[in-house]
Order: sequence, then structure tokens, then C-alpha cells
Amino acid sequence: MMEPCTLLIFGATGNLAAYKLLPALYHLEAAGRLHPESRVVGFGRRDWSDEDWRERVAAILSERLANRLDSAVVSRLLGRLHFVNGDLERSEDFASLAARLRGEEGFPANRLTYLAVAPRHYATIVESLAAQDLHLEQEGWSRLVVEKPFGFDLESAKILDRQLRRRFDEEQIYRIDHYLGKSTVQNILVFRFANLMLEPLWNRNYIDHVQITHAESRGIEDRAGFYDGVGAMRDMIQSHLLQMLALVAMEPPPSLDAEALRDEKVKVLRSIRPIPREAVHAQAFRAQYGPGRAGENRLAGYLDESGIGHNSTTETYAALKLYIDNWRWRNVPFYLRTGKRLGQTNSLIAIRFKHPPQRLFQSTAIDRLEPNWLLLNIQPNECMRLEIQVKQPGLELRTQTERMDASSCVLPPEHIDAYEALILDVIEGDHTHFLRYDEVDWAWRVVDPVLKLWATERDFIHTYPAGSWGPVEANRLFDREDQDWRNGL
Ligand code: BG6
Repeated sequence: MMEPCTLLIFGATGNLAAYKLLPALYHLEAAGRLHPESRVVGFGRRDWSDEDWRERVAAILSERLANRLDSAVVSRLLGRLHFVNGDLERSEDFASLAARLRGEEGFPANRLTYLAVAPRHYATIVESLAAQDLHLEQEGWSRLVVEKPFGFDLESAKILDRQLRRRFDEEQIYRIDHYLGKSTVQNILVFRFANLMLEPLWNRNYIDHVQITHAESRGIEDRAGFYDGVGAMRDMIQSHLLQMLALVAMEPPPSLDAEALRDEKVKVLRSIRPIPREAVHAQAFRAQYGPGRAGENRLAGYLDESGIGHNSTTETYAALKLYIDNWRWRNVPFYLRTGKRLGQTNSLIAIRFKHPPQRLFQSTAIDRLEPNWLLLNIQPNECMRLEIQVKQPGLELRTQTERMDASSCVLPPEHIDAYEALILDVIEGDHTHFLRYDEVDWAWRVVDPVLKLWATERDFIHTYPAGSWGPVEANRLFDREDQDWRNGL
């Protein structure tokens, strides 16, 4: 059984709480994974009572989880909720928060403080918490969860880290990259290190290149305020995609201990060849969605989305070619690509193998032998597929591609999400699936030169029709004519 704790949420009325945290808490409640005494305290500017917040959360849950809700679970969860009215900028509001937490309502002393607010508020919140000694581990533990983006660039990430660590020890800080909580992402480790047969092939001798794609059919929705000026490189590549790259490329860790695992990921990130300014155009590409269609529906372009400046050149699509300068991966390109309003929602790691040294057979594909591909589909469905060449039925010795699926390739139950797993990890004090600061630092070093150059080129950006698979110009990152993006399974 879990320890009892008080989950204190800053940004309780925001987008992240509504989309991810509250549904995750509902699922944990349903699974009986919250201690009976645990409480959830929302802090926000609305002048709400506990009852007002409960009503609001009930509405959010029925909107998000609709007919899958169990009313008994909802009422158990609502019974745990409390709301403290306060302003992030007013230190006296933190005094009333502290008084309430230590008052007679019996809030557990173990405290998980979740910063679900824009990072610009982190320093103020941390200082105000410290002024009330809420950062200290007195009668119970005190853990701080922070959301990405960790800074805006390398410089600001360092400053942010110093601000957090002035009050909280590294051991108390949990930096979330929610991709590390996805079971399919964790499966990369199992797949690589529980199957010896792959290891001899997993290197520059056999692998031609690796593609890591995160495509979304949705646009920026109601997140203009966060997204504009941030863009796809900071939002997705600096964090989620580089983490996936690290898991695909890392050496086997000596154990699954949090430090051992993170040491290996850091080694990969620091081995990524820095992109010199003059190579940025050859190795990085950005674009923005224009108007387009999804079937019969017309889709607005980025510039027509509400809250976006009419001349914004924020990228909604970014692609990057990287090299990892180590023994295993030298000169194997890793292509990372992400975009909003693409043709399909899909995250895929596609590993292309080299051709056999001699070509003995004709293939059904015109003029070329198809390579082997290993496809690890992260979402929406979990699937591993091996594409191999087999003999085409008939009299001739010709090849055709056959697909071998190593798992069912069906959609997983919808309610399993990364946030459930990660909240439990924090309560258990397990850092394995959270970022250590040096990972964040090295990831910024990878993307910083690109962002710096792009910042000077704000008068032009390529566009692609919303609902398409992005601009053809992104193909310029490939080295050879026979290379192309894998779009979905
Ligand atoms: C978030 C980004 O970190 O990840 C969003 O800020 C993105 O822009 C989201 O849509 C994707 O996460 P998931 O779990 O829906 O693939």
C-alpha cells in the first residue's frame, strides 16, 4: 500500500491538470492505488471553496472520461479534494496555504508539490514555499515535480535549475518527461536488453539509419499562449524525442537503478556530434502548417489559430539529423521529426537495416531490393514489426516484403497513461523515469545551435498544408535518394 500524502497542485485550474493530472488521479483511485488518507490540494486564483472545485473536477472528469466513469470512484476522489484560493505572486497567500496544510484537517505530512504552471513561475513558487518551510522534509518527505520545458535554452535551463536547487535537493526534484512513463517507451529497454538476438545487429555495422517520428493530427488547440514562440523543437525534440533516441542508442546499464540508467542516457546525449552553425541548414528543418483539410473538414492554418500573432514564424514541424560519435553509432544518422496537424497521430521508431553485401534476387519493388525495417510503434497502438524479404509465390526467385508482428498491434485500453505511472513513482520515491539535470543540460546543448540560428531567420518559414505529412523539403536531410520518411506503420 502507498504511503499517505498530500498532493499539492499549482495550476490546478489549468490545461495540464484537466487533461492529464485529474484523469490520472481518477484512474489511480479506481485502481485503489491512493492511500485512504491521501488528499489533493489545488492552489489557484479562483475564489473557490472545496465544494466549487469538486463540482468543477466532476465536470472535467465527465467531459474527459465520459461514459467510462464509475460514480462511486468519482465521489471517493472528490472527497479528497480541497482548494486554496491564492495568487502565485503573493507571499501572504502561501502563509495561509501553509497554515491550512498544518491545520486541523489532517493533511498527511508527506507532500508532493506539483508545478503544473508555466516555468516562469517556478522560482517565485519555490521561494514562497521555502519562506513557509514547505520545502523541508520535517515530519514527512517533500518532493517537487516540475514539468518541461525546463528553460527556453541552455542558459535559462541552468538558471532555472539553480533556482530550484537553492531550496530543494536533487533527490527531492522530479523532472517529468511524460514519455518516460509510457509503457511502450519503457518497452524499448525490455526489447533491447531482454533479447540477446538483437544485440549483435544493434550498431553501425548493420543499421543504415534510425528515424524517430512523433506526428500529431491535432493542432495547437487552446495552447497558443504556451506554444507560440516556443515551437516544435523546444516542445518535443529537446525532451521527448531526444529521450527516445537515448533509449534506442544507449549501452546496457549495469542495473535498472535510476543513476545507472541515467548515466547511460547522459553518455549518449553527450556523444551527439555538435551541429556547427554552417551545418544547421543541412541537419535541421522547420516549417509551419498552413490551411488544409482532413477529409471533408477544412483546417485552419497556424496563423489563423486563436491567439497567434499574424506574422509568427514559430515552427509547428521540426526535423533534425544527428550523429552519435561513439564506437557503436559512428556515422549512423538518427533522424528526429515531429509536427502538429500532420496526416495521422502516430509515434514510431523505425530502424532501417543495411542491404546484404550482394544482390542475388530481383524484387517486386521496381529496381531495388527493399531493406529490412524494425518498427517500434509507440502510439496510438503498441506494436513491433519486422519487415523481411521472402520469396514471392510463383515460379521465379523474386522477393517481396513480409511483415512479422511481434505483438498484437491493437489499441491498448485508453485509460492507461503515463501520468498514473509517474505519480506513483514520485510517491514511491523512484527517480528512474525522471530526468536528472545533466540530461536536460546535454539535450539543450544539442538543439541550442539550431535554435540560435533560427532565431536570426525570423522572416521566412516553409509551410505545409494542415492534414498532410509535412513539407517535401524536409527530405533534404536524407543522405541518399533511396531514403525516405516512414509515415505510420
Ligand atoms: C507535450 C507537448 O509534452 O507532449 C505537446 O507539450 C504534445 O505539444 C504532447 O502534444 C504529446 O504527448 P502525447 O502523450 O499526447 O503523445
